[in-house]
Amino acid sequence: MDLLRTETLADLTENAKKRNEASMSVLNDFTDDFLQAAKEAHTYRTMRHICTPEASHVEIIEAAQTGATSGTKFARDVLLLASNSYLDLCNEPELKQAAAEAVLKWGTGSGGARLTTGNKTPHEELENTLAHFKGEEAAITFATGYMANVGTISALASKQVYKAGSKNAAGVIRADDEQSECIVFSDELNHASIIDGIRLSKAKCYVYKHNDMVDLQRAIGEARAAFTGDVRKLIVTDAVFSMDGDLANLPELQKIAKANNCLLMIDEAHSTGVLGKTGRGLAEHFNDKGIPCDHADVTLGTMSKAIGCEGGFVVGKKSLIEFLKNKARSFIFSTSMSPAMAQAACNNLKFIEQHPERVQQLQKNVMFFCEALEKAGVCTNRFGRLSDLGEARLSDLGEAGLSDLEKSKSVYLEQHSAIVPIVIGDEAAALNASAKLQEMGILIPAIRYPTVAKGQARLRASIMATHTHKDLLLAANAIADVLKN
Ligand SMILES: Cc1ncc(COP(=O)(O)O)c(C=O)c1O
Repeated sequence: MDLLRTETLADLTENAKKRNEASMSVLNDFTDDFLQAAKEAHTYRTMRHICTPEASHVEIIEAAQTGATSGTKFARDVLLLASNSYLDLCNEPELKQAAAEAVLKWGTGSGGARLTTGNKTPHEELENTLAHFKGEEAAITFATGYMANVGTISALASKQVYKAGSKNAAGVIRADDEQSECIVFSDELNHASIIDGIRLSKAKCYVYKHNDMVDLQRAIGEARAAFTGDVRKLIVTDAVFSMDGDLANLPELQKIAKANNCLLMIDEAHSTGVLGKTGRGLAEHFNDKGIPCDHADVTLGTMSKAIGCEGGFVVGKKSLIEFLKNKARSFIFSTSMSPAMAQAACNNLKFIEQHPERVQQLQKNVMFFCEALEKAGVCTNRFGRLSDLGEARLSDLGEAGLSDLEKSKSVYLEQHSAIVPIVIGDEAAALNASAKLQEMGILIPAIRYPTVAKGQARLRASIMATHTHKDLLLAANAIADVLKN
């Protein structure tokens, strides 16, 4: 009996092994080639292990490379120029305390989607605060900024069926159950979550050249010729481009949108809390510079960056927000952000309202860092997207490059985004530069394909309000040294 049982167990183990091998080989068909190709192209991704809270200095876990202790793990202090927590609010003592109290009061999760049981007082308060902060009628929050883009764009740009007898935008009464397509015009450097939202909507998409208003008008003309009848048009753009740090030309976009009956949507993920003298974002930035500018029709943002929490949002007219509550699938079919997180985001947003000097300190730090880089001979994006000029080093640009610099200066105005890219080009060289900087105690990630185009790999430095001038000078000189060698 015992023998029989042992054999059966052995068989079972052998069979399980065989099944495992078979399923591994099926799985490998899905995974292996992709991972191998990524390794060969230097685009394979791994994660750093950070063992302290997000702040301007953090400790990372590293393994000793050489000597008797080779392979042993240890923690090392590094200067962080890689955070989206631009105002350093993730780790602000009074805000952490308030967040801890919110957990004690509201618990750890929301328990449901917003439309079932997940709508608690902090969600309502956060949306009111967001609408007030952005000077809009209403707001809706999502669990992440990614979900906000995917849900909002797919809701706006998917096919619409209208009731017979209703009027279209031109005042014409619809005969039957009329349908309308949407055409989307999207900047070529828009964030992945915008691209995924467009894909999900199944709308026809025209991609225009980065920040090129002439090309946008060309695309609108092309679409007009291709689509007759009742089509809706949506222009969508990042407000600050996440890998280049440059700004969308909001005043021109508004003129073009108005002239062509397009709805205009901007993604203020990297401009909320960063641009404008009180951190209200892109429109405030242009108005501060004396260029009158309204809000876009649809303004999206995230609480995961300068606000230092989690969650996405959209602000705009009440009818837009009601529409999204009824149509955006990532809002309807997903558990809401935890009420404690909503309360924390609300507290952090109020902190920004009460402390515009924190926003202004960030802007001063960005200027200081860009000037330090330029003095050290490294090209920055301070006067527009200098990656267009091809080379990373200012000293190599020569006369033609410098005159381009002057040109873009007048077009883009002085830049204040907290993202400073140093374009290197080659993927392996960018990885190497980032690794050398890490050895020097400075964490600046290498950004590669598919986040940026092939051959456009770069170091992406992001600045915080709490970096000291000593930190920034050290980093600028280290970058210049690494690029020289
Ligand atoms: C421009 C832009 N939009 C949206 C998102 C997504 O925001 P979240 O991280 O909150 O999902 C990001 C984040 O990286 C972003 O850079």
